[in-house]
Amino acid sequence: MLKRIFTLFLVALQGIPATCEIDRRKVVQSFNPRRSASSKTTPLQVGNGNFAFGADVTGLQTFSPFATMSTWGWHNFSLPTTGGQTSIEDFTGMDWYTHGQLVNYDIPNPAQSEISDWLIQNPQRINLGIIGLWFDRDDVTEEVLEDKSQTLDLWAGKISSSFTYNKTPVQVETWADTSSDTVGIAIESELFSADSLGLFFDFPFPTRNKYEAPFVGVFNATDNHTTTLQRGQNTATIRHDIDDTSYYVSITWYSAAEISGPIEGTHRYVLRPSQETKRIELSVTFSPAASIDTPSFSDVTSASTAWWESFWNSGAFIDLTGVESPNATELQRRTILSQYLTAVNSASSYPPQESGLVNNGWYGKFHLEMILWHLLPFARWNQFPLLWRSVPNVYSQYLDSSIERAKLQHYYGARWGKMTDPTGRSAPGEINSLLIWQQPHPMYFAEVEYRSFPNETTLKSWDKILTSTAEFMASYPYFNESTALCDLGPPMYPVSENTNPNATINPAFELAYWRFGLDIAIKWKQRQNQTAPRKWVDIRDNLPALPTADDAFAVYEGIPNMWSGTTVQDHPALSAIFGLLPPPSSGPPLNMTVVKNTADKIRDLWDLEDCWGWDFPMLAMNSLRLGDVNQAIAYLLHPLFEFDDAGYPVGGSRVPTPYFPGSSSFLLAMAMMAGGWDSEPGTHFPEGWKVQVEGFVAGL
Ligand SMILES: *[C@@H]1O[C@H](CO)[C@@H](O)[C@H](O)[C@H]1NC(C)=O
Ligand SMILES: *[C@@H]1O[C@H](CO)[C@@H](O)[C@H](O)[C@H]1NC(C)=O
Ligand SMILES: *[C@@H]1O[C@H](CO)[C@@H](O)[C@H](O)[C@H]1NC(C)=O
Ligand SMILES: *[C@@H]1O[C@H](CO)[C@@H](O)[C@H](O)[C@H]1NC(C)=O
Ligand SMILES: *[C@@H]1O[C@H](CO)[C@@H](O)[C@H](O)[C@H]1NC(C)=O
Ligand SMILES: *[C@@H]1O[C@H](CO)[C@@H](O)[C@H](O)[C@H]1NC(C)=O
Ligand SMILES: *[C@@H]1O[C@H](CO)[C@@H](O)[C@H](O)[C@H]1NC(C)=O
Ligand SMILES: *[C@@H]1O[C@H](CO)[C@@H](O)[C@H](O)[C@H]1NC(C)=O
Ligand SMILES: *[C@@H]1O[C@H](CO)[C@@H](O)[C@H](O)[C@H]1NC(C)=O
Repeated sequence: MLKRIFTLFLVALQGIPATCEIDRRKVVQSFNPRRSASSKTTPLQVGNGNFAFGADVTGLQTFSPFATMSTWGWHNFSLPTTGGQTSIEDFTGMDWYTHGQLVNYDIPNPAQSEISDWLIQNPQRINLGIIGLWFDRDDVTEEVLEDKSQTLDLWAGKISSSFTYNKTPVQVETWADTSSDTVGIAIESELFSADSLGLFFDFPFPTRNKYEAPFVGVFNATDNHTTTLQRGQNTATIRHDIDDTSYYVSITWYSAAEISGPIEGTHRYVLRPSQETKRIELSVTFSPAASIDTPSFSDVTSASTAWWESFWNSGAFIDLTGVESPNATELQRRTILSQYLTAVNSASSYPPQESGLVNNGWYGKFHLEMILWHLLPFARWNQFPLLWRSVPNVYSQYLDSSIERAKLQHYYGARWGKMTDPTGRSAPGEINSLLIWQQPHPMYFAEVEYRSFPNETTLKSWDKILTSTAEFMASYPYFNESTALCDLGPPMYPVSENTNPNATINPAFELAYWRFGLDIAIKWKQRQNQTAPRKWVDIRDNLPALPTADDAFAVYEGIPNMWSGTTVQDHPALSAIFGLLPPPSSGPPLNMTVVKNTADKIRDLWDLEDCWGWDFPMLAMNSLRLGDVNQAIAYLLHPLFEFDDAGYPVGGSRVPTPYFPGSSSFLLAMAMMAGGWDSEPGTHFPEGWKVQVEGFVAGL
């Protein structure tokens, strides 16, 4: 009881910045990334979750055209004009047998490849433009510059870069605004007096490539798009038109300078400061609207300084700097850099794509099954305002189209889509339309939020979403006459996406997650003094037992050759049954012998070479709950789970770099180590580690 009162007391304090015992600033700044050359794969970034600017070693996009990306910048190529497929309504999908009935799925029809491809590739996220240093000679490369040095100050959101050219020093500061799509730039150099330094602005054209890394867009399709310059007093606006997409770049500077362009055959504009200039400050705002209030350079620097200081001083924190172990130092480095990078790339008004605002993966679209990994850490690290930028509103926004999707397939409730863009449309695909593990995510988010905010606002804000989600989850299972149980699938894809969808029935993780989701939905109604629909309870109570093979969980019921061949490839979601989910609060308890056997078999038999990103933290979370912190750390530091010098999660053999689910799932595992979980709250670090933690609550 005392503990309960204490917990309630702590809960009441949530939202108020934690009193910091830890010298957070010292810990954070000791991991400031430093570079003396551009990385071949990643920029250093400034940004605010909805907008980010990726810089090379000059602090701008001079030699490596890293991207400037946003939540709102998207483009459609024109619709196909042939094959009778000239509108998106012409897409028919495919009818697949689903328990004897034909059900229509958004699976590409081979006879309609043009419209299917269009729907997959459009809209794609665009690189809004690049800003670089202009030199008086065309043959200046990064190698020509000397004494290159660059630091990203994580505490202020500022990149400081310096180098010499023609023996003359140049200093560049790069900042991003916190509430607009603005870069603030300051450049200091004597080179202006020799007329040999300026800035350029250039604009790429989008491509139809699924992945675009490290750079986004092409600069040599100049005839396919247009730019127009409008000059003002110490300002200029460049309008960029790509088919139906148009937006504006407003540039404001605070000393004498002239802008001209575009240079023949390009969309490149050049801003040249006058010869008296020693320092030029400018702010560059990207926006879909023509005239907007543009913050000044000093507005940007003060907003950034204040926002980042408050970000670092609020929420939870882990200090491992008292541990004398290179493992602890590496975990700390990954933690701090992941905190920075997820705030820059993932705290957006729509869920983030896997590569954030760095480059494009899956055309810049986001995946609704991945948003739990991306966004749950904001809740677990007590940074709720960053979570609330997209959750739960994105579910409200997509509710109608998800109800429509379910209805067309003869289900009740809302069936959430998969690979999505801001319109809420789910891109066609066999896996895209048959995956189901995104469905219970709202329950997970809601329950974690309720833990910190157990009030009616929370109950109300999720009620409609949870109700529609549960209605689908209760209507999706198929009553099996011979077993009198409610089967999941077929056809369906489990988390691992590598089984025959027509044979996949009762996958272990999905069954566990279905039970979890329905349990929460029922509890949610009870908390509101309502009775949950009988159907939810019936379905939950008649879910089949989790399938096993060789005394361990099986990917799905009856899977042939479990524990060899391709079944031990791809995401080892069997580890999430106990790693990500809490023990079931209804039905039979988990058989812990099976849970333990599963963990051992995955460790010994799974093709970990084929794993990537969140697989390793998911395995680590399972190890933690099983009481094996050393194994958890071994997964988190697995040689195939790499983070580069600036903390970007390396994609590995399967996907380009960065792959941000690696960062966010890493933060989830660290939150579990720092805050524990219901049956074992508190820290779970290796014995003898002197660790300080602040602001965590136990996980589910
Ligand atoms: C792309 O086209 C779709 C379908 O017409 C439309 O819903 C969406 O708003 C368009 N997006 C952009 C960025 O033009
Ligand atoms: C699954 O069944 C559908 C028909 O319902 C068929 O079109 C499809 O090819 C089958 N897929 C596999 C992998 O067997
Ligand atoms: C543009 O550059 C790409 C990559 O270098 C090249 O493949 C393509 O042919 C070029 N296109 C034009 C129109 O020059
Ligand atoms: C540019 O437009 C032309 C003509 O429509 C087209 O053939 C070409 O593929 C386009 N270039 C790119 C890079 O999309
Ligand atoms: C209730 O919870 C919401 C989050 O859902 C939070 O913003 C609000 O401050 C809480 N209200 C009270 C009175 O605690
Ligand atoms: C019913 O369950 C049994 C045992 O799991 C299974 O073999 C059978 O295929 C199921 N029936 C249908 C129609 O899915
Ligand atoms: C549910 O009922 C209890 C007891 O009557 C009451 O204290 C509580 O405020 C009610 N909750 C809601 C959400 O109506
Ligand atoms: C748990 O699983 C093990 C291994 O399959 C089995 O031997 C044991 O009987 C199970 N325990 C229960 C209570 O079902
Ligand atoms: C560091 O972690 C690796 C991988 O888990 C482990 O093999 C090694 O023993 C650890 N080193 C120390 C000093 O704890």
